[in-house]
Amino acid sequence: MRPIQMVDTKNQYLKIKAEVDNAVLQVMESSAFINGKIVQDFAAHLSSYQGARHTIPCANGTDALQIAMMALGLQPGDEVITPSFTYIATTEVIALLRLTPVFVEVDPKTFCIDPAAIEKAITPKTKAIVPVHLYGHAAPMEEIMAIAARHNLYIIEDNAQAIGCDYTFSDGSKKKTGTIGHIGSTSFYPSKNLGAFGDGGALFTNDDELAVKMKMIANHGQSKRYYHDIVGCNSRLDSIQAAILDIKLRHLDEYITARRAVADFYDKAFAGNKKIITPYRAAYSHHVFHQYTLILDGVDNVAAARDGLNEFLAKNNIPSMIYYPVPGHRQKVFEQFNSQALKMPVTDWLTERVISLPMHTELDEEQLNFISSKVLEFITK
Ligand SMILES: Cc1ncc(COP(=O)(O)O)c(C=O)c1O
Repeated sequence: MRPIQMVDTKNQYLKIKAEVDNAVLQVMESSAFINGKIVQDFAAHLSSYQGARHTIPCANGTDALQIAMMALGLQPGDEVITPSFTYIATTEVIALLRLTPVFVEVDPKTFCIDPAAIEKAITPKTKAIVPVHLYGHAAPMEEIMAIAARHNLYIIEDNAQAIGCDYTFSDGSKKKTGTIGHIGSTSFYPSKNLGAFGDGGALFTNDDELAVKMKMIANHGQSKRYYHDIVGCNSRLDSIQAAILDIKLRHLDEYITARRAVADFYDKAFAGNKKIITPYRAAYSHHVFHQYTLILDGVDNVAAARDGLNEFLAKNNIPSMIYYPVPGHRQKVFEQFNSQALKMPVTDWLTERVISLPMHTELDEEQLNFISSKVLEFITK
């Protein structure tokens, strides 16, 4: 059996090596390392894949969130509602810009922000909501957009983990996640579903004015070279990364299909087990399985059980990960917002119980059989 990895970018690369190597070589020969034509080409291709009017490439997914908040003109003290159960990048940029993160609960089935919790958290200071399409499952955008319209709030979708996810509205129409809110952000971190060979990110919007502003902010606030109209930053996607991403974009749907096949395999293997809750798939969301995350339930000492499973799998050379061991409201960095005092039973419950299994495009049946049989061996002990 081939060694099992949490993420296998190497073998994914080897399958498209000739194409990728050639594209990288072309950038090197052109010497247009920054803002080369390939960056614009990739942005255009990604716009058409996403069905977004504008795609603005940037340096990483964290910058994308920051640029979005800057472009919306959010001011210090403005409140931004966000799930506590997410990666730190989502919430960190809120604090970085001296905005106030307001942590709310997620739905225990989808792991995504709970619209009822959003409603309760809205105050006169609320300016924006940042739903996160966690693990590749869409947040309930139709409800979130309705709340935003009622309260005049901006929506920035953190789509770092869900590029390619189709959202189906109640009238049957579809949109890609990241294109439903006022702005969507994404990350091309190497392990992401559309991963670069380094850092990268992008912003999506259908709003022409916001697009111009975000483009300027990502490039030192300049309207034309050396004319700086607003405060910006230096956040560019390298041409080499754009060239690689442009090729990988052609394979994204096939990568998503491979991920979903892995999820189907796991689902089937764990079906009916009372101690394992497999990932829920809401009808509105075409899950793209950035992660395959189990919830351990009905076990006596869940902390010991999860540590035990993690160690047992590791002894069998199977990696597993906890995304994320500490939710936002319990992070030291946010003590200044008195967030530790918040009661978040769902988030705490999930934080104690989740465990993610290897999930990538290169897993074969032998590996999947081995992983699932070892999980079951430990769980049914
Ligand atoms: C939910 C979420 N938001 C934001 C980011 C930030 O992306 P990056 O690492 O490219 O800055 C990530 C990924 O790391 C993420 O998973």
